[in-house]
Amino acid sequence: MNLILLGAPGAGKGTQAEVICNELKIPTISTGNMLRAAVKAGTEYGLKAKAAMDAGDLVSDDIVIGILKDRIKEPDAQNGFILDGFPRTVPQAEALDAMGVQIDKVVEIFVPDETIKQRLSGRRVCLDCGATYHVDFKPSKVEGVCDACGHELVIRKDDQPETVLSRLKTYHEQTAPLKDYYEAQGKLVTVEGQENVEDTSRLTLAAVKG
Ligand code: AP5
Repeated sequence: MNLILLGAPGAGKGTQAEVICNELKIPTISTGNMLRAAVKAGTEYGLKAKAAMDAGDLVSDDIVIGILKDRIKEPDAQNGFILDGFPRTVPQAEALDAMGVQIDKVVEIFVPDETIKQRLSGRRVCLDCGATYHVDFKPSKVEGVCDACGHELVIRKDDQPETVLSRLKTYHEQTAPLKDYYEAQGKLVTVEGQENVEDTSRLTLAAVKG
């Protein structure tokens, strides 16, 4: 099954991708995580992407489409995958269609902007394995330490309040039009994000399997 997770920054795409990945045993492909790894490694892509990411803007379509195209050719993606954070613009969705990738379902996780602002201020991430936590809603077992790999948890640079506002603006202007794009293809299902992770996960899995 090939899935797309759509939603504003902080709606819970990464959190739900982890749940679906465990349930369906298909990999998550997160362009955000891949870009952050490229920035950390100082690659050519990473150097080009860093300024846009720090400002809460989108990285250019050609870079992201190139990264994605290579990633979906990997052996682990041949029996299905979850796209988390891609596509983010209509040209990216058109590029995916042009690659001949069959998408089975697009699950939008809808969360109001005000809730998102609260969630991102409490988010902590592991820059090593990409796991995400929240100081109140999904705390790690040991404060500041990743449960999965034991590395340090940090606040993402783009989770600063003023950058979050800019990411939300970018989402509404450039990514939200994808809802109409996939609605027209009969693939869009919307899940209302709940106050806790487990309730959202139940609804998300029902949407994926339904
Ligand atoms: P990316 O990493 O994709 O960021 P994003 O879309 O802004 O998404 P987030 O990772 O911030 O949020 P999420 O929805 O995964 O939420 P999470 O599960 O962590 O991209 C980063 C940057 O890379 C972009 O800004 C852009 O510059 C660039 N980029 C990436 N892809 C690109 C593309 N295709 N084109 C161009 N540029 C691209 O949850 C958030 C918090 O809430 C967590 O702390 C979590 O524990 C908590 N939480 C989750 N669910 C719940 C719940 N139900 N109740 C309570 N708390 C919850």
